[in-house]
Amino acid sequence: MTANPFLDTDRVRHDLYADAGRIAQRTGALSRAKTAGPHPATVIADLAATGLRGTVLDIGCGRGTTTLALAERLDPPRLIAFDQSTALLAEARSRLTGRLGVEFLRGDFHAIDLPNSSVAVAVAAFCLYHSPRPAAVIAEIARCLAPGGLSITVTKSPDSYRTLDEVIAASGLDPEATSRPSLYETFHSHNQAETVAACLDVQQVVHHEHRFRFADADHIAEYAATNPKYQLGGGVEEIARRLRETVGNGSLETTSTVTYVVATRR
Ligand SMILES: C[S@@+](CC[C@H](N)C(=O)[O-])C[C@H]1O[C@@H](n2cnc3c(N)ncnc32)[C@H](O)[C@@H]1O
Repeated sequence: MTANPFLDTDRVRHDLYADAGRIAQRTGALSRAKTAGPHPATVIADLAATGLRGTVLDIGCGRGTTTLALAERLDPPRLIAFDQSTALLAEARSRLTGRLGVEFLRGDFHAIDLPNSSVAVAVAAFCLYHSPRPAAVIAEIARCLAPGGLSITVTKSPDSYRTLDEVIAASGLDPEATSRPSLYETFHSHNQAETVAACLDVQQVVHHEHRFRFADADHIAEYAATNPKYQLGGGVEEIARRLRETVGNGSLETTSTVTYVVATRR
């Protein structure tokens, strides 16, 4: 079995999230391809708007997209954007400039440097699949939450973007693309609720199907080049050229299920 690059601490720290440009390129290519499915940051902010007042914690905040939606929707007295990447925290900080009560905390989500029972709402979106032990992070969330506090975790289905894997494999760029480990191996749509339920009371599980249409080889290459799942070699232009030569320059449709689990502390 190939080692999973998404669980390799060094690769997560240094290749995947050491600079904000790489994730911005992947997210940008994906959002231009989106044809159906609500924006996760909006869904998260809606689910979090229960009227609970107090500290809001955005774990694995990345570039701060969800943090910004939480700031706008909840206007909490204290909002902590938490991530282990200095570069992404800096990007999040620049996007939240001028917002009062927002703090930026660097650390590993397996040991969050906050007191017991100090958080009203904790969000962990699209990040717990980087942990080989997501149950340990859920226990850490439960420790930080005040009694009655709310947890919202978000991940995707393991079959996300399957047709993209098939095209990459068919092109010969990475013949093993369909059998490489999923980004969502340890924490995905089907095991998320059970993992959360070990420490918290699950209130709601929501699945949304998202649809995407990549316009042509350039668009596919832009996304694929920043996805460490594939072993491609070469940059965006070279990948696009190889795709055009082998599978053509047509569009590609694909899907992903985004799953939200809302839970409360006992
Ligand atoms: C896909 S991004 C998250 C995007 C963000 N939550 C959003 O909704 O836009 C994944 C984030 O998890 C962070 N991360 C990965 N492993 C981590 C760890 N052990 N502790 C803290 N953050 C981690 C990465 O640095 C990265 O910013």
